[in-house]
Amino acid sequence: MAPGRFITFEGGEAGGKSTQIQRLADQLRAHGHLVRVLREPGGTPLGEKIRHLLKHDPDGRGMAAETELLLMNASRAELVRQVIRPALAAGEFVLCDRFFDSTTAYQTFGRQLDAAAVRSVIEFAVGDTHPDLTLLLWLPRAEARRRLQQRNAETAPAEDRFELEQEAFFERVEAGYRALAAAEPQRVRLVDATPDVATVASQIWAEVSRLLA
Ligand code: TMP
Repeated sequence: MAPGRFITFEGGEAGGKSTQIQRLADQLRAHGHLVRVLREPGGTPLGEKIRHLLKHDPDGRGMAAETELLLMNASRAELVRQVIRPALAAGEFVLCDRFFDSTTAYQTFGRQLDAAAVRSVIEFAVGDTHPDLTLLLWLPRAEARRRLQQRNAETAPAEDRFELEQEAFFERVEAGYRALAAAEPQRVRLVDATPDVATVASQIWAEVSRLLA
């Protein structure tokens, strides 16, 4: 059986990743593919507990950046072994909302941890399981802030430790993503996330079609 394809979605907050992942999953299924939709941190029972610690648990407030790095990669190590590798071996499409590029953007650039140390933790967690394609949904920070404010006013979500960060943190994360796109332009494809949902979806489909061709 042909091995599956591993596609990750990246970008700052409020870029519409989850909406676009669902649309792509529907489109791939309509073409007869088996599709698995996952998220990071999370995606396994253990990973979802780690996600709660990282994002919402009051005991996680003020955690060391090193702890954050290791928890992200503990969740990832589990997801890779329990879900991603078996799904790819079974020929499925795996669509993941964030993967190791988030660690480079948020922990290396955002938290300013040592780049080589972060790389070696990621390598330990993922081994040779790397995405075939990464779609980087690009939204200017001002628009991301506007969308977040709107979402928070509409749904009053649980407090999120990351969304409480200062603007300078998100600017560093954005610089991290720019560096990743420049370093690996074949794998990391920039998608303009400012237009309407259907327009963004068609940009994404064009990238995925290239991968399948
Ligand atoms: P989200 O799923 O709502 O985007 O929340 C995940 C948060 O965790 C988001 O703020 C980005 C952050 N994150 C990291 O800092 N490093 C990582 O490796 C991953 C996967 C996520």
